[in-house]
Amino acid sequence: MNILITGGAGFIGSNFIFHMRKKYPDYNLICVDLLTYAGNLSTLASVLDKPGFKFYKADIADRQAVYDIFEKEKPDIVVNFAAESHVDRSIEEPEVFLRTNIIGTEVLMDASKKYGVKRYHQVSTDEVYGDLPLDRKDLFFTESTPLHTSSPYSSSKAGADLMVQAYHRTYGLNVTISRCSNNYGPYHFPEKLIPLTIVNALHDKPLPVYGEGINVRDWLYVEDHCKAIDLIIHKGEAGEVYNVGGHNEMRNIDIVKLICKHLGKPESLIQFVTDRKGHDMRYAIDPTKIHNALGWLPETKFEDGIKKTIDWYLNNKQWWEEIIKGEYRNYYDKMYTNR
Ligand code: NAD
Ligand code: DAU
Repeated sequence: MNILITGGAGFIGSNFIFHMRKKYPDYNLICVDLLTYAGNLSTLASVLDKPGFKFYKADIADRQAVYDIFEKEKPDIVVNFAAESHVDRSIEEPEVFLRTNIIGTEVLMDASKKYGVKRYHQVSTDEVYGDLPLDRKDLFFTESTPLHTSSPYSSSKAGADLMVQAYHRTYGLNVTISRCSNNYGPYHFPEKLIPLTIVNALHDKPLPVYGEGINVRDWLYVEDHCKAIDLIIHKGEAGEVYNVGGHNEMRNIDIVKLICKHLGKPESLIQFVTDRKGHDMRYAIDPTKIHNALGWLPETKFEDGIKKTIDWYLNNKQWWEEIIKGEYRNYYDKMYTNR
């Protein structure tokens, strides 16, 4: 089995590669990644030279480059993680989100059609459903919730999802889509809430919390997301969408306080800053469909997952220290100084 994985040098894609190599040692995994600011080859150091693994540095929106790779590698399954993934960056510079997230998806599907790929899987997000009100705890996103996006990021992901469904209906491409809630775990880029808070707290730097910190996210340990995708690509039905989430809703402020507690840092580091434009209030997934159809359930409890994650950042300082001393510094200054 040849599985082509895009975005495998990023957070979830790399965790998926590790999961698949462990579970299916006979599979050939082909990783395609442009190594943008969010991609990190050092993350894949343990597999780079191993049999059954190949890495290509390429842009998924570069048609010729993608066709050349498909021609050579003849993938059976494609799993598309590659994306511009950060909402705040999408508010500053939307254009690259359209190129990678929409055009890149289209190019990968054209290649999948041309080279007879048996299953194309699109890694999407719960953000395509927009947000839910804080005072309606009874409401959840299901697969039939209408798409209703807020940010350029979520709009680009929704655009891609619609193209994936169009390729299924129009051309009969065998596709599946997963829409997952917020992931956390090892190799999470420190621009996102949990790793940013851990890294700043370790430096006794202010911990920026947008608005009042009352926005709610539904956090899922990354390995559980990888297991869901593994099930979907092997057993999911063509043309179907599967929501993936942990039933683990938490307010941002409570996450930040919990990290302070774990690290023995004072809550006085918390700094409330100007809110994100168009900030979604609450995400909450109803994962009934994937549970009933494929038997998936989240396995890692948040209290265990967050401890494992914090320990990982404590034990892998070199990984994130390399990141924060590079271009990240300009990003951080631009987004947070005088916010
Ligand atoms: P990430 O930003 O950590 O990684 C993205 C990877 O894609 C990087 O390695 C980057 O180099 C690569 N990439 C970017 N543009 C590319 C291009 N044009 N061609 C090839 N590679 C390119 O993202 P992540 O958090 O790992 O998210 C992976 C996927 O999962 C995304 O599609 C995202 O929308 C989706 N998702 C993320 C979450 C989450 O909580 N992080 C939740 C649900 C869904
Ligand atoms: O729900 C899935 C989505 O989760 C994915 O599709 C995205 O790729 C992923 O980045 C994530 O999006 P969020 O915007 O929810 O994640 P982020 O970590 O950026 O922010 C989480 C919450 O924390 C959000 O309400 C904004 C807030 N926040 C974030 C940062 C970076 C802060 O309060 N302070 C911060 O410094």
